[in-house]
Amino acid sequence: MAQQFEDRFHRKFYYLRLSVTDVCNFKCTYCLPHGYRPTNKPSTFLSLPEIERVIAAFSDCGTDKIRITGGEPSMRRDLPEIIHAAANRVSEVAMTTNGYRMARDVATWREAGLTRINVSVDSLDPRQFAQITGENRFAQVMAGIDQAFAVGFEQIKVNSVLLKDLNSQDLPKFLAWIKDRPIQLRFIELMQTGEMDSLFTKHHQSGVSIRNQLMAQGWQLKARKANDGPAQVFTHPDYLGEIGLIMPYEKGFCASCNRLRISALGKLHLCLFGDQGIDLRDYLQADNQKPELIEQIQQALQSKAQGHYLHLGDSGATPHLASIGG
Ligand code: 5AD
Ligand code: SF4
Repeated sequence: MAQQFEDRFHRKFYYLRLSVTDVCNFKCTYCLPHGYRPTNKPSTFLSLPEIERVIAAFSDCGTDKIRITGGEPSMRRDLPEIIHAAANRVSEVAMTTNGYRMARDVATWREAGLTRINVSVDSLDPRQFAQITGENRFAQVMAGIDQAFAVGFEQIKVNSVLLKDLNSQDLPKFLAWIKDRPIQLRFIELMQTGEMDSLFTKHHQSGVSIRNQLMAQGWQLKARKANDGPAQVFTHPDYLGEIGLIMPYEKGFCASCNRLRISALGKLHLCLFGDQGIDLRDYLQADNQKPELIEQIQQALQSKAQGHYLHLGDSGATPHLASIGG
């Protein structure tokens, strides 16, 4: 194995978030409020062979988990082939989806080698769901979750962006939903991105209030394992489901960073926030470029900062999370 990816702060990177498209068919208020808009130049997203080369380089350097992200990954027709390419190289192949195609396609994804699914559900109220996502697809997404369980996924992670005055009062409803379902429901604090206007000030709410409510109701913080991501996970003896809290504004959030990101245009992003990305595309054109590709990544890693500057209102160069895969 080539040398493992590691930065100056001795953080090791064995987890790759690989965006395969910027395109999305939802219009989440906090991400793409006006829907996906193609940039002036027709951008071409990484081809399957380019993706295979990314995967080969990362797996050679110790990556054992790949998350396929977007935009919405299922907007790509060759998604099963992409999943399969990842499954050939790493043990965990996860995907984040808005759930739109899940009822129809999840069996195919599983056959191709998908091991984990995260699906976004910002509200359990169909009207509010439509209000937040711009799409009246609540029932379709719920059917997708049922289907994912039916084809054999044992636990499903559900992402909800915490929004003050919208879904933040609905904790009891969310808790009732996961009582008998093996769902890890993850509340994600709204993060400010470049193109976001007043939404952040209006709807940002800290996860602390959720944490306090959970603790008061007997939920307990699960001990962290070495390779865990940044979520604080809570369990309760009466519930099959779990609650995760993702609080990027909390001190120390970046200390457990274990991930690197590749955008759909082939740029390496060292952090969700604050960097323009390092273009790797020239190194993805032939299989024999792998040593150079690895060298580029190793070099770039040496400039990874210790933390983000979100708390200073600096979201770096990230216009919205669909551009880099969240
Ligand atoms: N803040 C927090 N989470 C976000 N997501 C997208 N944009 C933001 C933001 N500004 C989340 C969505 C989805 C995942 C892909 O990223 O909820 O679950
Ligand atoms: Fe699409 Fe995800 Fe952005 Fe919503 S958050 S618009 S589903 S990419």
